[in-house]
Parts: sequence; structure tokens; C-alpha cells
Amino acid sequence: MKTPPNIQAMTTPTLPSLLLPLLTLLSLSQHKPAQATELARCTPSEHHGSTLTIMHLYGPCSPFRTSKSPPTWESNLLEMASRDEARLLYLTRMATTVTTSKKTIVPIASGRQIIQSTNYIVRVSVGTPPQPLLMAMDTSNDAAWIPCAGCVGCSPSVFDSTKSSTYKTLGCQAVQCKQVPNPSCTGSACTFNLTYGSSTIQANLSQDTFTLTATDTVPDYTFGCLQQVTGTSIPPQGLLGLGRGSFSLPSQTQSLYQSTFSYCLPSFKSLNFSGSLRLGTVGQPIRIKSTPLLKNPRRPSLYYVNMIGISVGRRLVDIPTATLEFNASTGAGTIFDSGTAVTRLVEPAYNAVRDEFRRRINGTVSTLGGFDTCYMGPIIAPTITLHFTGMNVTLPLDNILIRSTSGSLTCLAMAAAPANVNSVLNVIANMQQQNHRVLIDVPNSRLGVAREMCSS
Ligand SMILES: *[C@@H]1O[C@H](CO)[C@@H](O)[C@H](O)[C@H]1NC(C)=O
Ligand SMILES: *[C@@H]1O[C@H](CO)[C@@H](O)[C@H](O)[C@H]1NC(C)=O
Ligand SMILES: *[C@@H]1O[C@H](CO)[C@@H](O)[C@H](O)[C@H]1NC(C)=O
Ligand SMILES: *[C@@H]1O[C@H](CO)[C@@H](O)[C@H](O)[C@H]1NC(C)=O
Ligand SMILES: *[C@@H]1O[C@H](CO)[C@@H](O)[C@H](O)[C@H]1NC(C)=O
Ligand SMILES: *[C@@H]1O[C@H](CO)[C@@H](O)[C@H](O)[C@H]1NC(C)=O
Repeated sequence: MKTPPNIQAMTTPTLPSLLLPLLTLLSLSQHKPAQATELARCTPSEHHGSTLTIMHLYGPCSPFRTSKSPPTWESNLLEMASRDEARLLYLTRMATTVTTSKKTIVPIASGRQIIQSTNYIVRVSVGTPPQPLLMAMDTSNDAAWIPCAGCVGCSPSVFDSTKSSTYKTLGCQAVQCKQVPNPSCTGSACTFNLTYGSSTIQANLSQDTFTLTATDTVPDYTFGCLQQVTGTSIPPQGLLGLGRGSFSLPSQTQSLYQSTFSYCLPSFKSLNFSGSLRLGTVGQPIRIKSTPLLKNPRRPSLYYVNMIGISVGRRLVDIPTATLEFNASTGAGTIFDSGTAVTRLVEPAYNAVRDEFRRRINGTVSTLGGFDTCYMGPIIAPTITLHFTGMNVTLPLDNILIRSTSGSLTCLAMAAAPANVNSVLNVIANMQQQNHRVLIDVPNSRLGVAREMCSS
């Protein structure tokens, strides 16, 4: 009865026929930028202090939205969940790659996986006068990079540096130039190349003013200005890294925001709704349950926490402690990530949770895409509680179950980490974070979670 997790099914072209009506497989290369009128409609009319609006990748304001009518939310989720494979591979590699020299390489653009798997975008303006951009937010990356005008192979080129009076390229002597991979000097400018899969990017290490909200401008924000992209994985939009490392937004805006921010991710179900990214200490929840942030010096970008157990209903599931334990040298442990759609647990942990969940439902199990625990018809499901040091988070059913619109199928929206990676990392993902405020408070080294309906 216990079928193994069928993760591979997510990426194989031979999907069960059940899936075909649900799945509108969206190829990123087919996405067209939103029309100008749409962008105008999508401009948030009001700002509340240092708060940015978070929009969904497939929402009406996203440059990824197609002209086709939007597919159902569960087809979106399945599509995003299928892209999680690559995201997990990226995160795990990031967590387990050994730093060989004393030199710390900041992954300023970490590969096609990251491009394919960021699910939320925020509006940021760059330059003087400000040019509005829709950048993908990524809490597990430090880099900011932007397809610059004149970039060969970028489509569309969104930022025209020649129209900005504050734009500058960094010279080879700049301290930042020593932190990017494969730096080289073209003239006196610091440029760098990256390869990923069959693709290569070339970028200038640049600075310009970032206007984050109506009142907050950050002069000399360091980013990669993309000049050339080859291969099929064309970065279609900018990336805004909110990780812990030195090039990230929290680090570059430390004097303004004290490396403190919180976000509330809107539900996948309501793409028209937006969430919020609140920067700085002002307006953050005062009383919020929290757990210590753990620092992995080898993987400075990632927000690790100590997950110590998982309950299904009231029952604490029997999970081998080693599968949850933080280990800086192996990269093992648990992170919160904004770029993965569905929570992934290392296999023994997932299997234990899944088995208890199935035991509680006691119905006929079927599968849907990468989800291996689905039931026909409505089910009475138990809640799931994630136990962290000093903090328990009980997930409401909306954060646990994916239901098809027709109501015929309900699935447990979690999965095991892909079997093809060195599986050590548990990733608390979007689906489980939606309609919660997640507070990242680096000075006090804590991560807080509070229920908040930022969309319904
Ligand atoms: C990038 O650097 C190259 C080499 O120095 C220079 O020719 C080019 O104008 C720069 N472009 C931008 C947008 O900074
Ligand atoms: C980077 O790529 C450009 C364009 O393909 C090439 O001209 C240059 O030599 C490369 N630089 C390095 C350091 O590999
Ligand atoms: C989202 O907004 C668009 C345009 O305003 C509208 O056509 C569509 O019906 C809305 N969708 C939902 C689910 O509210
Ligand atoms: C981390 O993992 C390594 C390799 O498995 C092991 O040798 C080490 O003891 C672990 N560290 C801790 C603190 O558990
Ligand atoms: C599961 O369902 C079957 C058939 O409905 C029933 O016989 C069995 O007692 C149930 N088991 C539990 C643990 O509820
Ligand atoms: C979390 O839940 C466990 C098990 O129910 C309980 O023993 C523990 O005291 C709770 N911790 C907090 C911080 O509420």
C-alpha cells in the first residue's frame, strides 16, 4: 500500500492521464512581458512605510503571465512543484559544496535553477530617474542582478543604464570585485562570467540607486548588470537576493533596515491578491513566536533554523533525529526558503509524516504529479505542527492540502527531497508559509512566524 514517493513523475513527460486536463505546462520562454497598461494598473497606489507589495509569479502584474487565460491554481502549483526539483538541487548543492580556499565566493548569479524557481516578485526602481522593475525575490540568494539594455541574449532588457545619471560600473580594484566568481578586467571595469548547464552569462559589476519604497532610496547598490547570455536559460527578469550574505539586500541596506525584514506570501489560490515585504524594524510584530537562526559559515546565504520534530494531529511523528539535525559541514538541517513551492523533507522524515497522515485518513491513496498522498472526495485531515527550538507552528489545512477545483481530489502538499541529490536539507516552502508573516531578525538572530491573512 505504501508506494514510494513518485517524485520523478513531476518531470517525466508521461504524466498520468488524470493530470493532463489540470496541467497546462508553462514554458518560461513562452512568457511575454506584461503590457504597459497592465503594469500601470499593477503599480501599487499606496505605500505603508517601508513595505513592498509581493505579487505572485503568475499574477496579473507578473511579467511571466501569459496572454492565455490563467490556468487553475492547482495546475500552477503542480507546475511550480515540478520546478522545485531543480530548486532543491540548487539549494542542496549550495548547502553541501565545500569551500576549498579561504576566499569566499559569493554566488552572484547561481544558475538556471534559481531563475526557474522564484515564485514571487516585488517592484523595485533602479537608477536616476527611477526605472521600475519587477524583480524575483529570493531569500536563499544574495545577489541582485538585472538584464541591462544592450545585453545580448537577454529578453527583455529591462534596465537602461545610459538613462541613469547615478549608474556606475565598479573598477577592478573595488573590494566587491574580489568576491564575484571569475572576475576579469575589461578596460577598467570589473566583469565576470558564469556558466550554468549549457548557458553562460557575462555581467558588469555595477552600482546604482535602488528605490525600494516611496521614501527609501539606497545609493550605490551593488548588482550584476547582465551583458550577455548564451544558451536556452535566459534570465527574463531581475533577481533580488534577500539572503544572509554580503551582497544581499539586508546586508547592503544594513544602516537603513538593520538586517531586519518580514514577509507575508499571498496564497497560490488567489493570484490577484498581494502580500507584503516589510523592510526594517519599524512596524514588525512585537510579540511573535520565534526560533533562533542558525548560521552556516559555509553557506552564508541560507536562513537555517533548528527543526526538532513534526506532529501530525497531536501525535509527534517518529523521525530519526539525524535527519533533522543541523550540521554546518554537511549542510544538513532546515531552511526557510521563498523560492520553493512545496515543503520538502529528507526522505525518512517525509515518509514518517506521510505514513502517519495516511494512517489518520485511512482511505484509498492515489497520486497527482509529485504528490503521493491524494484522496478522492473530501477528507477530514489532521493538522501538521512543525516543532522548532522555542517555537511550534501548527499549519492550518490551507497550508497542508491541495484540492482540485472540481473537488474530486485532495492531496497532502508536501514531498520528499528528490532522490537524485545528496539529500540532507529540509526546506520549508511557499505553500506552508502562505498567509503567515515570517520575520527575519538577523541582529537578534531569530526567525519569527505569525499567522496573518495577507490574502485569502
Ligand atoms: C560593461 O562593461 C564593458 C566593458 O568595460 C563596457 O564596454 C560596457 O559599456 C559596460 N556596460 C554597462 C551597461 O555597464
Ligand atoms: C567572458 O565571456 C566573454 C564573452 O563570451 C569573453 O569574451 C571573455 O573572455 C570571458 N571572460 C572570462 C574571464 O572568461
Ligand atoms: C483577477 O483580476 C483580473 C483582472 O482584473 C480579473 O479578470 C479576474 O477575474 C480576477 N481573478 C480572480 C480569481 O479574482
Ligand atoms: C557533521 O557531519 C559530519 C560528517 O557526517 C560528522 O563527521 C560530524 O560529526 C557532524 N557534526 C555534528 C556536530 O554532528
Ligand atoms: C480503516 O478503514 C477500514 C475500512 O473502512 C476499517 O475496517 C478500519 O477499521 C479502519 N482503520 C482505522 C485504523 O480506522
Ligand atoms: C511545542 O509543542 C510540544 C509538543 O506539543 C510541547 O511539548 C512544547 O512545550 C511546545 N513548545 C512551545 C515553545 O510551545
